[in-house]
Amino acid sequence: PLTAEVNQQEHLQVGGCDVPALVARFGSPLYVLDEQSLRTACRQYRQAFEHYYPGQALVLYASKAWSCLAVCAIATQEGLGIDVVSAGELVTALQAGAQPSQTYFHGNNKSMAELQLALESQCRVVVDNWYELRCLAQLTAEIAAPLTILLRLTPGIECHTHDYIRTGHIDSKFGFDPDQLEQVFGFVSQQPGLRCIGLHAHIGSQIFELQPHYDLAAVMVSWLQTAARYGLAMEELDIGGGLGIRYTEADDPPSIEAWVKTVCQGVVAACEASQQPLPRLLCEPGRSLIGTACVTAYTVGSQKTVPGIRSYVAVDGGMSDNPRPITYQSVYRVLAASRMAAPLSDTVTLAGKHCESGDVVITSAQVPPLIAGEVIAIPATGAYNYSMASNYNRVPRPAAVLVGGGDAHLIIRRETLQDLIRQDCLPDALGVSSE
Ligand code: LLP
Repeated sequence: PLTAEVNQQEHLQVGGCDVPALVARFGSPLYVLDEQSLRTACRQYRQAFEHYYPGQALVLYASKAWSCLAVCAIATQEGLGIDVVSAGELVTALQAGAQPSQTYFHGNNKSMAELQLALESQCRVVVDNWYELRCLAQLTAEIAAPLTILLRLTPGIECHTHDYIRTGHIDSKFGFDPDQLEQVFGFVSQQPGLRCIGLHAHIGSQIFELQPHYDLAAVMVSWLQTAARYGLAMEELDIGGGLGIRYTEADDPPSIEAWVKTVCQGVVAACEASQQPLPRLLCEPGRSLIGTACVTAYTVGSQKTVPGIRSYVAVDGGMSDNPRPITYQSVYRVLAASRMAAPLSDTVTLAGKHCESGDVVITSAQVPPLIAGEVIAIPATGAYNYSMASNYNRVPRPAAVLVGGGDAHLIIRRETLQDLIRQDCLPDALGVSSE
C-alpha cells in the first residue's frame, strides 16, 4: 500500500520491521516482501469470488510476477493454484507444494522437454497454437490417462495499457486465432490422449478499465457454446489476469473486489442469455497479488548536479533489479526510509548504477536532501522486478526477505561474486590458468 508505516524513529517500517535495520542486517539493495499484504490480496480475490460466484471459482497466482519457493508456498497455502509459463516456474510451483491439478502451464512456445515435464507432473496445459497441439496429440496418443488441456484463444479485445503487455488484440503472438477455432475444436475432439476441459484468454496487464473483462466474458462464453457442439465437455473458463495496481498517487485502479464482481457478472449474464450452465471460473492475477506487497531498499551513493538542469542521486542498484522503468517507462515513487517526516524539499533524478544513461529509477523524485549511505525505498516493486532481474554489468541479484509481525526471514539469498562466474568455462585451448 502507498500509505507507509512509520515507526518512532521516523523510519519506514514494513511488516513491523525497520527498513534501514533490515538493510544493515541483510545488505543492500534488498527486496522486502510483506507477507500480510500478499496474503490479504489472495484472500480478497477468494472472498470476492465466494461472494459473486460461490463454490465454482479458482484463483491462480501468475507466478511470472515473482516466482520463488516462498511466494508460491504462500499462494498455495492461501488456496490459490499457480499459473506457470516455463519448466523453471513449474518446478518451483510443484516444489513449493502446488497441486498438479491446480497448476496451469501457459506459454506460446513450450519446448518438447517442457511438454514432457507437464505430462509427467500431470499439471494442466493451456495449449497455445497448432504446433503445440500436434506435438501433444502425438505425445499423448498412447498414454493411459488423457492429458487435461485448455485452449488459449486470441479474443480480439482491446485495452489501454503499454503496447508490450497487451495480449488480447488480434495481432498478438499468443493463442489461436478465432477464425481457426472451430477447426481446433474438431481436431481436439478426435484426440484420445487429450481431454479438453476449457478455454483461456488473457487480454493484457496493468489495466485500469473494467469493461474489457466484461466484454471478454461474453466472447468466451459464446466460444464455450460453440465447443460444446463438437462434443467437448467444457467445464472451465479462465479469464486471465491483468488488474492494474497503484505505483504512484496518479494511479487509480479498481479494487480487487470490483474487478472480480465485473468478471463474474459478465460470465453470469452471458450464460443466462445463452442458457448455458455456469462454467468453473478461473482467473490468474499476478501484479495485483504481489505488486504492492514489496518495497526495494537501496543505499544512496554518488551525486552529480548539472547546473540549471538537474541533480542526479545514484543508488546501488537499478535496471538489473528493476528493469521496468527502462522497459516500459514505468513511474515509481521513493521514500526516504530513515527520515520519513523530513520535508521533501528537493527534486532529483534517481539514477541506477548501470552503464546506460537510461538506467534511471525515477526521473523526477521528491525527496529530502539525500546523504550518501542513507537508505531509500521504492514501493510497489513486488511484481515483475525480481522475476525480470538480470546480472547486467555482472551485478549480483539482491536478496529478498519476507517480513511480518516484526520478524524477517531470508527467502532469496543474495548472489555472490562467485555465483556470477559459476557457470563460466575457460576452455583449455585458451591457455589461461584458472587459478
Ligand atoms: N496470465 C497470462 C497468460 C499472462 O500472460 C499474464 C501476464 C498474467 C496472467 C498476469 O497478468 P497480471 O495480473 O500480472 O497483469 N513484465 C510486464 C508485465 C508482463 C505481463 C505478462 N503476462 C510488466 O512488468 O509490466
